[in-house]
Amino acid sequence: MKKILEVLKQEVTDAFVQAGYDEKYGMVTLSNRPDLCQYQCNGAMAAAKEYKKAPIMIANDVVAILEKSETFKKIEAVNPGFINIVLSDNFISGYVSDMRKAGDFGYEKTKNPYTIVVDYGGPNVAKPLHVGHLRAAVIGESVKRIGKFVGYNMIGDIHLGDWGLQMGLIITELKKRQPDLPYFDESFTGEYPEEAPFTISELEEIYPYASAYSKKHPDYLEEARNATFRLQKGERGYAALWKHICNVSIADLKKNYDRLNVHFELWKGESDAESYIPGLVEHLKEGGYAHYSDGALVVDVKEPTDTKEIPPCMILKSDGSALYNTTDLGTIIERVKLYNPGAMKYVIDKRQDLYFQQVFRCARKAKLVGDDVELTFLGFGTMNGKDGKPFKTRDGGVMRLEYMINDVTQSVYEKIMANREIPEEEARDTAEKVAVAAIKYGDLSNQPSKDYIFDLDRFTAFEGNTGPYILYTIVRIKSILNKYKELHSDVRPEELELLPASSDSETGLMLELTKFSDMIDVAFKENAPNKLCQFVYDLANAFNRFYHENKIIAEEDEKKQASWIALISYTLDMLNQCIELLAIEAPDRM
Ligand code: ARG
Repeated sequence: MKKILEVLKQEVTDAFVQAGYDEKYGMVTLSNRPDLCQYQCNGAMAAAKEYKKAPIMIANDVVAILEKSETFKKIEAVNPGFINIVLSDNFISGYVSDMRKAGDFGYEKTKNPYTIVVDYGGPNVAKPLHVGHLRAAVIGESVKRIGKFVGYNMIGDIHLGDWGLQMGLIITELKKRQPDLPYFDESFTGEYPEEAPFTISELEEIYPYASAYSKKHPDYLEEARNATFRLQKGERGYAALWKHICNVSIADLKKNYDRLNVHFELWKGESDAESYIPGLVEHLKEGGYAHYSDGALVVDVKEPTDTKEIPPCMILKSDGSALYNTTDLGTIIERVKLYNPGAMKYVIDKRQDLYFQQVFRCARKAKLVGDDVELTFLGFGTMNGKDGKPFKTRDGGVMRLEYMINDVTQSVYEKIMANREIPEEEARDTAEKVAVAAIKYGDLSNQPSKDYIFDLDRFTAFEGNTGPYILYTIVRIKSILNKYKELHSDVRPEELELLPASSDSETGLMLELTKFSDMIDVAFKENAPNKLCQFVYDLANAFNRFYHENKIIAEEDEKKQASWIALISYTLDMLNQCIELLAIEAPDRM
């Protein structure tokens, strides 16, 4: 069905035309004075120039026509030429009823669905997830879910950092510690899988150790380089060991991402790009896209309209080795070949912005992607501590994501237990759900590109624009519906009829519901889960206002009560849909 803004725009446009003005002036927006009206049209002001008339006269002409329409409760022209619009309760409840009938909350899926790859997560093998990985995970997951709801075939790819010198370092250190492992024997023919000779905790200790050690010991670094080289050449033993390292690491990463309700369709990594690199280099050379500069192979990516210097995209270092850029170009080639996507979206720390500009320009210049394939860099800002600096542990170290979730869960658990008696297991489960919602909502409610401050007290508060407040609202509606069902076990709320609103708070709630489809479109186009959060918050507020002003269960007028039940049940469905798009889960009670 048509989005509400389109419906209104159509009606207002028709009136402009009927009154003798051009259709382009029939614009409608949400009101910026909600105390006066719900929507507004500023077209008369724009039309005044063309028709050399006072805007208020034009507005009056249009209003004279619209006044006859059943769509509006109140429509008026106000100085200097605004048209203020208040919808009729019949129209609003009729629109919501149509949404209920249409399914998908009245949202019309895209008519041109294609595949979109979302590159998000980006953790590195053998390194624990830290809070820096949080944003990529939660924003990417939501962007993916919104796209899926809109109708696209969404593929989330974690793009593991599983290649390069870091792997050589781990292998070198393992060799030093466990020289008798069969992998280091050049005649190794063993096959994966066998039990890995190390645990995740050992791996996580080895990498930083090896990395620091290599900085002080050039021989060791040389050995690590050599190990990397042997791995990349595909030597059997090294490959088997590498596979172990990846698998142990992936099992641990999955556990952590599961906790955040983040799930990837693809667990590919930088290593998957390796086989595309020789072809890429060849293509860049043959097509005349690349040239040598100081021994390195580079592609110029400057454009005449640039206002700042964009350095060339480096493909091979002078020693012939590939770089992070090269891997991303290889990955683009692979994605085009395997999934033929219409768009690729990269949810990555905004500090990698310049680097991705180079990669995208190089991909376009060398025609690695078709002109119609969209490449979007969705750079996110930093999560800071209260001191405004990147979030750290109390002693200044990097905070592991796991520990942060544990801390927040513990604090929510204490809050829940302070208020009431809940069985231990349920309380733990609820605390984890609420904590994850607090963390994720605290993040997602900010515009992705902005930095934000992690504030435990604010994020876990049950009041205000927070995850727990949204969950609390959901739980509240569930509990009212349960009470109603106890008294009317035969009634299905989704079959009850919705009547026109009989109070302002009821109108307000219905009006929020009507905005769903417009909001989804904006959230998708702007890659902005924060728009979804804002909507959920407005909807939760509208519900709570309605709830406080009406005694739903005690209402004696049965028809009215049934309509209210229909209304809040639909509100619950929509809230649930929204939090699913944010990848947040609600408990049954709190
Ligand atoms: N592993 C990288 C890092 O830690 C992030 C990967 C981002 N994705 C990409 N396609 N480059 O910085």
